[in-house]
Amino acid sequence: MTQATARAYPNIALVKYWGKADEALIIPVAGSMSMTLDDYATTTTVRLDDAADALNLNGTELDHTDSATQRVGAFLDIVRGLAQERGLDTAAAHAQVTTVNEGPTAAGMASSASGFAALAQAASAAYGLDLDTRDLSRLARRGSGSACRSVINRFAVWHAGDSDETSYAEEIAAPDLAMIAVTVASGAKKVSSRAGMRATAATSPFYRAWITTTEESLNEMVRACADADFTRIGEITEAHAMRMHAVINACEPPIRYLAPASYQVFDAVAELRANGVEAYATADAGPNVVVISRPEDAEQIAGALGQYAENGEAKVLRPGPGAHVVNADDAADAAGATA
Ligand code: DP6
Repeated sequence: MTQATARAYPNIALVKYWGKADEALIIPVAGSMSMTLDDYATTTTVRLDDAADALNLNGTELDHTDSATQRVGAFLDIVRGLAQERGLDTAAAHAQVTTVNEGPTAAGMASSASGFAALAQAASAAYGLDLDTRDLSRLARRGSGSACRSVINRFAVWHAGDSDETSYAEEIAAPDLAMIAVTVASGAKKVSSRAGMRATAATSPFYRAWITTTEESLNEMVRACADADFTRIGEITEAHAMRMHAVINACEPPIRYLAPASYQVFDAVAELRANGVEAYATADAGPNVVVISRPEDAEQIAGALGQYAENGEAKVLRPGPGAHVVNADDAADAAGATA
């Protein structure tokens, strides 16, 4: 096959990934766990040709010196390396990459996770690699760590591992959940996750404790999922998110991703709980807050939290599919939807 199109969705971690044991291979210091979403898909087509690698992002042809083009080119080199190991005659080919994000790229909905999961799936198919889910997640991980979880249906655990072979994501069973996204600010984040992780490892005195506590949180989360214990899943999620922001806040100079509006949402969620509605909040490396709930409570919670969102609306999201190949017509529909 010389062309393939794939779709993947962002994921939101309940137990967060923050810190690398190996920067080049993107091996994390601890495992993590997430839900893949059912909206804000990325659709990516990879077409092999002889010209240089090229990237078209949301309808704009990017210059080859652009950092996104370079990151995609470096990722394609990894795919070509795999093709070469397998003796495929595609190994020397360049690729035209066309990618469309349905979500607002800078709204903190993990576009790098859906982006590299879709790219890993489309590129591996176009270059003729026939990867199973585990190997596809390992490949996506090389583009952006959290992307390995977007390869997986619904709920994923990323096993930290200690090598390229042993660091991969797989599906785990969990009770049905909803997420309510409260986008308090849609601007791009000030410090990238990559730079923030580096600063945390280098300067935060709580880093060691963060690594240990993340491993414990993950073990407890896996147990809570197996027991379908929603309350415990929520409690671990919120405590773990606060711990991640605490270890980040402790950097020198300090890094602070949460905004006053983010704390207002955390307070509103605590108030919902005090009034008998079970909801728990988390936030990634930015000010936006994502709340988890039982599916039947999601609309009521979204109604209560909409006032904190930049556009006045909180969005309900549900578990979604892992990265998958789609046919070219679906891809054209996705591109048309955002054109
Ligand atoms: C806060 O996966 O974007 O969203 O591996 O450097 O590309 P790189 O980082 P990335 O980091 C995600 C960090 C997080 C937590 C999470 O998704 O687990």
